[in-house]
Amino acid sequence: MGDPARRGHPVSEGIDLPAVPRGTLLPEKERLARLDLALPKIRAVLEGETDEVAIMATLACLLWETLAQANFCGFYRHTSKDMLTVGPYQGSMGCLRIAFERGVCGAAARSRETQLVPDVHAYPGHISCDDRSRSELVIPIVRRRDDVVIGVLDVDSPHVDGISRGEASRLEGLLAYVLGGG
Ligand code: SME
Repeated sequence: MGDPARRGHPVSEGIDLPAVPRGTLLPEKERLARLDLALPKIRAVLEGETDEVAIMATLACLLWETLAQANFCGFYRHTSKDMLTVGPYQGSMGCLRIAFERGVCGAAARSRETQLVPDVHAYPGHISCDDRSRSELVIPIVRRRDDVVIGVLDVDSPHVDGISRGEASRLEGLLAYVLGGG
């Protein structure tokens, strides 16, 4: 659907960002500008939506379009005591389940603190779902109503230092806004 001239174009028609080939690590300034362009559009798409799966699936799609440097972008959900189960994502296949005591995702869920890992080879306990991943960001999502960790956002990149603190803090704000209030 949409403009036939853009079929096959690696750009989301939903938020209409400039084309960047998958895997490209833009300079940080350009990545932040791209994210700042995308964020209000993503918020607008999700305005009023309360269904967690609908929100996570749409975020996985739109953040994948925004974060060209990613090879995985998606969610692990807190489905039973101290257990994460994979949720909506884009990119290479992720592990299906991650216990709270394991990996970067577990560390984020357990500590309730964002984990920004510039080089996963230097992170003991990192779970390698894709050998190409070299850096990773995991942000815990806390539901304010009952102070429960409902899951985490996980973004992996094949580049060392592929995700910045600035990108992390913008994504923290987005997640708190669209998933923290339910
Ligand atoms: N690297 C993660 C596991 C999830 S995958 O990378 C998609 C971790 O160490 O928790």
